[in-house]
Parts: sequence; structure tokens; C-alpha cells
Amino acid sequence: MQRVFSGIQPSGIPTLGNYLGAIRNWVRLQDDHECLWCVVDLHAITVWQDPAALRQQSLEMSAVLLACGVDPAKHILFLQSGVRAHAQLAWIFNCVARLGWLNRMTQFKDKAGKDRENASSGLYVYPNLMAADIHAYHATRVPVGDDQRQHLELANDIAQKFNHDYGVDFFPNIEPVILGPAARVMSLRDGTKKMSKSDPSDQSRINLNDDADTIALKIRRAKTDPMPLPSDVEELADRPEARNLVGIYAALTDTDHASVLRDHGGQGFGPFKSALTDLLVEKLAPIAARTNEILSDESGLIDVLRSGAERAAAIAEPIVAEAERLVGFVGLGGR
Ligand code: TRP
Repeated sequence: MQRVFSGIQPSGIPTLGNYLGAIRNWVRLQDDHECLWCVVDLHAITVWQDPAALRQQSLEMSAVLLACGVDPAKHILFLQSGVRAHAQLAWIFNCVARLGWLNRMTQFKDKAGKDRENASSGLYVYPNLMAADIHAYHATRVPVGDDQRQHLELANDIAQKFNHDYGVDFFPNIEPVILGPAARVMSLRDGTKKMSKSDPSDQSRINLNDDADTIALKIRRAKTDPMPLPSDVEELADRPEARNLVGIYAALTDTDHASVLRDHGGQGFGPFKSALTDLLVEKLAPIAARTNEILSDESGLIDVLRSGAERAAAIAEPIVAEAERLVGFVGLGGR
């Protein structure tokens, strides 16, 4: 069985976009893979995080993942900072990856912005830590959004250089599992922009803990155009807002745009939006309720995460110890 690893930043309650684009697909991979799901708090601090907020958001993200169906008994859910092997292997990878490689990373350029000199050195070596996350488990399949593809290529370059430099065939090649286009949920205010937690307008997104009234209001206010829904998928091409709402409906019902238009084509946005609201409430309300229930028992949640970290460490420690031996460390064990 192939081992799957993926990471998600603890950056607040996820949006519908995170759910349909990532989390829901993670849950589906659990049927036929051995999975490790990691809340990447080490990555989070590559940009400033308020300590109390980071702690809370790490717990919230873990609770949401559980509420969405991540199974901590059959698979492993843990916090990155709970397993030392990540930072240990990342140091070795800092010494394998070349500056030239990191200089090509578009995410660093985007995140560092104009004030590059003031970016943390952690942000610069972020991709090396991400490579360590995956290679510490010899994971070979990594579900990510399209924006992470370049980081996975770098992770493969690091593995190849390590194997070459030390004359071994130790770190395997990783295959990205790029999550499908159905997954791309756009802003409710602008159908050409991705739905994002960082958008200043809360009206632009559905959060996984929005209550029924909030969902209804956001959908009612969602931007549309004056025409009724078309019957033909092609006619959605230059109607980004209509396309987005139809896409959300399709993803939530596990169908495609064509099938939604077969049922709703010709309808005005009034009735379609009200059908979409019902559907969103039906799918999201149980997740919000379950998330709150999990968060209300913080020590129970921490127990789940501790058990996850122990089981993750049991896989990663021997792999990282072997990498250290290959490098030439005498090997007194990491403490
Ligand atoms: N960088 C990823 C993101 O922002 C999160 C991440 C960290 C990750 N480590 C990972 C994803 C390892 C996949 C595998 O989305």
C-alpha cells in the first residue's frame, strides 16, 4: 500500500474552498492508502504568528479535520511540532538543496513580496522542511493543490541529490496527487479570484463554521449576473460567478456542471441560490457541530494528537536515523 502524506497550515477555520479542494479529497484517500495528515505549525511560523492564536488555530484545524472525517484510528493525524524528525531531516535537506533551486520558488517570491530582505530565513527554506515532512516517512503520494507542485518537484530534486551524493537509493520519488478542477472554489464576490481565508471580505467565502443564517445571507448576496442559468455548460465560460455557484453545487452533490444545469438550467438565481443554500446547510452544519463538540473537549483532542505524534514518530525516527548514518553522523540518537 502506498503511503500518503499531506500537510495543511493552521491558518484559521478552513473555507468551503479548502474543504472541497483538499480536505474532502484527503478523507477519500483514506479508503485505499495509509495516510499521514499533518497540521504544519512549523511552517506557520515562517511568517509572524501570535502565539495564542497559533495554539488555538492548530487545535481548530485538527478539530475540523476530524469533523470532516479524518480517521485517527486507521490513519495518523498530528501536529508537525510534535515529531522532532521533521526539523532534524530539514536541517540535512538545508545542506542538500542549492540556493539556486530555492531562488526559483515562486511561492517565496509571492509571500516575501517587495520586502525580501525582511523575510524570515525560515520562509526561504520552507520547501526544504516540506520535503523533509514527506521524505521522513518515505511517503510517495502527496495530495496538494496546484500551487504546491513546484515544491514537490524540489522535494524530488532533493531526494535525487541526496541519493546521488551518498551513493544510495534511499529516498523514493514522490508523485503529486493534484486535486481536480472541481476543487477550485472561487470568491463569492468575484468569480475570477480564488476563495481565500485572507480575503478581507468575509462575504467572499463560506467558513466551515458558518451557521445556517450566515450561509443563507452570503449566498443571497453572492455576486451573479442578470441572466438565468444556461442549459449548456459552454455558456458558463464567460460567466465566472454563475460557473462558480454551479461548480459548488456540482461538487457538493458529486456530479458535474452539466448535470446541475440539466436540473437547474433556465432557472433564475433566486431559486437556484435557495437550493444551493439548503444543500450547503445540509452538508456543512454537521461539520460545524462536530468541530465545536471536539473543541469543547480540548484534552481529548490533545490525546488524539499525542497518539498521532507517537505513531508518526515511530515511522519517521528510524528513517531519519538512517539518513543521519548515511551522512556520517556517529549516531548517538536524536534527543
Ligand atoms: N506547503 C503546503 C501548503 O501550504 C503545506 C504543507 C507543508 C504540505 N508540508 C507539506 C503539503 C507536505 C504536502 C506535503 O499547502
